[in-house]
Amino acid sequence: MHSALPVKYETLTTGIQNTMKRYEKVADEIAELIRSSVLIPGERIPSVRHASRTFGVSPSTVFQAYYLLEDRGLIQARARSGYFVREQAQQPLAEPEAIHQKANPTDVDVSDLVFSVLGSLKDPDTVPFGSAFPSPDLFPLERLARSMAQTLRTMPASAIIADMTEGNPNLRRQIALRYMLSGVMLPVEELVITNGAMEALNLCLQCVTQPGDLVAIEAPAFYATLQVLERLKLKAVEIPVHPRDGIDLDCLAHSLANLPVKACWFMSSLQNPVGATMSDAKKQALYSLLKQHQVPMIEDDVYAELSFNARPPRPVKSYDEDGLVMHCGSFSKCLAPGYRIGWVAAGRFAQQVSRLRLMTTISPSVPAQAALADYLQHGGYDRHLRKLRHSLETQQDAMLAAAARHFPATTRVSRPSGGYFLWFEFPRQVDSLRLFKLALAQGISLAPGPIFSANRQFGNCARLNCGHPWTSRSEDAMATLGRIIASF
Ligand SMILES: Cc1ncc(COP(=O)(O)O)c(C=O)c1O
Repeated sequence: MHSALPVKYETLTTGIQNTMKRYEKVADEIAELIRSSVLIPGERIPSVRHASRTFGVSPSTVFQAYYLLEDRGLIQARARSGYFVREQAQQPLAEPEAIHQKANPTDVDVSDLVFSVLGSLKDPDTVPFGSAFPSPDLFPLERLARSMAQTLRTMPASAIIADMTEGNPNLRRQIALRYMLSGVMLPVEELVITNGAMEALNLCLQCVTQPGDLVAIEAPAFYATLQVLERLKLKAVEIPVHPRDGIDLDCLAHSLANLPVKACWFMSSLQNPVGATMSDAKKQALYSLLKQHQVPMIEDDVYAELSFNARPPRPVKSYDEDGLVMHCGSFSKCLAPGYRIGWVAAGRFAQQVSRLRLMTTISPSVPAQAALADYLQHGGYDRHLRKLRHSLETQQDAMLAAAARHFPATTRVSRPSGGYFLWFEFPRQVDSLRLFKLALAQGISLAPGPIFSANRQFGNCARLNCGHPWTSRSEDAMATLGRIIASF
C-alpha cells in the first residue's frame, strides 16, 4: 500500500497553494489519500522515516503533519506500532433533509430567546462552537492597522466630511471592481456603504415594507432576520431550506401566487445557518419568479468570499435586469470584524436606501472606510482570502471527522462548500435548548435550532462554528457533546 504514495503525491502537489506550510501540505496529501480510500481505516500509514524520504521533508516536518492529522481525527498513534488510519475517518454522517411545511404567515417573537442565548456566549473561556465569527487570529489585523494609520495621515481634510454622504469613492470603486471580477457589472451609483451588512438589510427591508406586511424568509433563517421582522412588526412566511441546494422554490412559487408577499429576504449562497448554496439554474429560476410577481428580493450574501470552490458563487443579483434585487455584503466575516463596514447594491431602490441611511445613522465611519479601501487596493486581500478559506476548509474537515467519531450515528450534518458553520440534526429526542444549557455548564457553547425559526422549530438541531483552529480542546469538546447527546 505504501508504494501508492509517491505516485499520488505527484498528482496531488500540483494544486497546492504556496501559502501553506510544508507540514500542512504533507498532512493534506495524506488526508486526501484517506478520503479517496487509498489508505483505509485501520491501515498503518507510512513510518516517519519512509514519509520523510517520500515527501523530501525532515522527520520533524512529518511529525508535525502527523500531529495535525491526529488533531483532525484522521489518524491515531498506537504504542510502539506507529500511526494508523482511524476507523471512522471516512464514515461521514448523513445530510439533513429539508422540513416540508406549509408556509403560513407567522408573527415573530424570538428576540428574548435569541438574546438569552447570545448573552451566554460571551465568556472567553468557553469553547466557541456557538460563536457567529471565525477566530480573530485568522484576520490580517496588523496589516489593516497600517492601512488605517497611513490613510489617516494622508486623507484630504475635505474627505472627512464629504465622504459621509456618498461613501469613500475609492472603497465604492474597489467593491464595484470585485463585483466585476465575479461577473456582475454594477454601476457605482447603485452602491450604498453601510454600518455592516446588518444596517443594509434593515434599510432595504424598511424601504419596501410597512408594519403588518408579509416577508418571505428561510426556515431555518439567520436569527437577526427574525429579530428585524419582529422589530418592524412584519409577518414571516417561512420557506423551507434544503441544506444542500437552498430554498424550496415550489413552496415559494405557491406563496407568491397566493399571499400578498411584499419582499423576500434570502441567502442564495452559504446560507446561515445550514450552509446551502443554490445552483446557478435555481438562482435564475428564483429571479424569474421574483420578476413575474414584481417582488423585490434582499439578498444577504455576507459569506460569498468564503467559498471553497475555485469559482465564486454567482449571486441572484447577477440575473437582475430591472433593479429588483438588493444585494447586501460585508467585510465583517472575511476581513475586518468590528470595522462595521458593509454595503448594498440596491438596484432601483438605491436612492431610497441612501436617504434612509442619512436619516438614521448618517454614515459609517469615514476612517474605517478609507482604511478598507487602502487595504483592498494594496494589502493583499486575495492572498488573505486564499489562506482564510484553506484554514476554514481544514477546520470543517476536522469538525466533520470529530462528529462522525463522537456523535450518535443517526446524527445528520450539512457539508457546506464554504464558510464556517455546520448544521446538525440530532436524534429526534434531543432537545437542543437543554443541550445548549448542559453544554454551557461544561464550558462549551453552541447555537440551538429554535433561535433560527419564527415557529421555534428545529428543536433537535444546532449550528456549530468550525471557524477556530482545531485543537485537542475542540476534540474533547466534541466528545463531551457526544456524551450529552447520547444521554437524552
Ligand atoms: C447571515 C448574516 N447576515 C448578516 C450579518 C451581519 O453582518 P455585519 O456584521 O456586516 O453587519 C451576519 C452576521 O452574523 C450574518 O451571519
